[in-house]
Amino acid sequence: MKQIHAGIIGLGRAGQMHLNNLLMMPEIKIVEVADVFIENISEKLNNLGLTNQTRDYHELLNNPEIDTVFIFTSTDTHEEIVTAAAKAGKNIFCEKPLSMNLHEEASLNVLKAVKEAGVKLQIGFNRRMDPQFRNIYENVRNGKIGTPQVVKITSRDPDLLPHDLIQRIGGLLFDFTMHDFDMARYMMNSNISEVYAKGGTLIDPTLKDINDIDTLALVLQFENGAYGLIDNSRKAVYGYDQRVEVFGSEGMLKAENVSDSTVELYNDKRIELQKPLPMFQERYKPAYIAEMKAFVNSILNNEPVVAEGRDVVMAQRAAVAAQKSIETGEPQKVDTSYPLE
Ligand SMILES: NC(=O)c1ccc[n+]([C@@H]2O[C@H](COP(=O)([O-])OP(=O)(O)OC[C@H]3O[C@@H](n4cnc5c(N)ncnc54)[C@H](O)[C@@H]3O)[C@@H](O)[C@H]2O)c1
Repeated sequence: MKQIHAGIIGLGRAGQMHLNNLLMMPEIKIVEVADVFIENISEKLNNLGLTNQTRDYHELLNNPEIDTVFIFTSTDTHEEIVTAAAKAGKNIFCEKPLSMNLHEEASLNVLKAVKEAGVKLQIGFNRRMDPQFRNIYENVRNGKIGTPQVVKITSRDPDLLPHDLIQRIGGLLFDFTMHDFDMARYMMNSNISEVYAKGGTLIDPTLKDINDIDTLALVLQFENGAYGLIDNSRKAVYGYDQRVEVFGSEGMLKAENVSDSTVELYNDKRIELQKPLPMFQERYKPAYIAEMKAFVNSILNNEPVVAEGRDVVMAQRAAVAAQKSIETGEPQKVDTSYPLE
C-alpha cells in the first residue's frame, strides 16, 4: 500500500482530535510529532507508540523521512510554519486560516512560497466534507432546487472561549465565521462580492478589551446575484447549533442539527428532541475524517485538494469586509480576483 510519511505539528484542542483520526488511517505513517509543550502530552503519545517527539518543529521539517506535515498549531504561527514547511518541500495540511493578519498579504506570501515549492496545500475547511452539507452541495449542483437564490447559515457555539485562546487563534470573524464564509461561497458556487455586518458584545462585554465580538448578523451578496444570511453567537444555551439552508427557484435544501439519538419524547405537555452534539469534535467528526481521506487521496493519486489557498483568501477577505462594515455601518465590496493563478 502506498503510504504518506507524516509529521504532526501542534497538539492542542484541534491537534489531538485530528491525531486520533489520523491514527486510524492505514495510508498514514506518523513519523514524528512536535509541540512547544510536548512534555504535557508526552506520556499519552508514548502510549500511542509515537515516541519520536520534539519541541522544535524545525527538527521535524528536517527529517528526510517525512514527506507531509499536518499543521494544527494556533493561527498566530501558521504564516511562519507553513512557509517553512513549503521551503522544506513537504506537502501540507493546515488548519484555517493562514494568518492572523487583517491584510491578506500575509496569506498571499505564504501561498507564494507554497506555489514556488510545488507542494500540495489543503486548508482545514472541514465543513465542505460534512455528509449533510455535502449532500446539500451536491443537490444544489445537480439542479434539484433550480437556481439557488439564498443561503442561510446559523452557526453558534455552546459557550464563550477563554480570551487567551481567542488571542492565539483569532476572534469570532477571523476564526469562527471564517468557516461560514467558506461554506456560503461553496454552497452557492460563487464568490462573495459584498458584505453588510452588524456585530457586538451582547454576551460578554469584556470581549471589547481584546477587540472581539460575540454576536454577529451578516447579509452577503454573491457575484452570481444571489444572497446569503449568516448569524453567529458564542453562546447558545442549548448547545452547538449548526444549520444550513439553500433556497432556490425550484425548492429548498436544509440540514438540521445532528444529535446522538433520533429518539423524540411525546407527552401531553410537550415534544422533546435530543440536544445537538456538544461541540465541533463530535459534530464534525465524519467531516474531519473525510477531509483527511480526501487530502491523502490528493497526494497519493495526484488529485486536487478539497480546499485550497484561494478559498482561504476569499474567506479572509469577506472577514475583513465584515469587520469594516461593523466599524463603518456601511456595506463593503469584496475583491474577488485572485492574484496567484
Ligand atoms: N477546523 C476546525 O473545526 C477547527 C476547530 C478548532 C480549531 N481549529 C484551528 O486549529 C488551530 C489550533 O487551534 P486549537 O484550538 O487547537 O489551539 P490550541 O491552543 O488548543 O492548540 C495549539 C497547539 O499548538 C502548539 N503550538 C503553538 N505554537 C507552536 C509552535 N511554534 N511549534 C509547535 N507547536 C506549537 C501549542 O502548544 C498547542 O498545543 C487554529 O488555527 C484554529 O483556528 C480548527
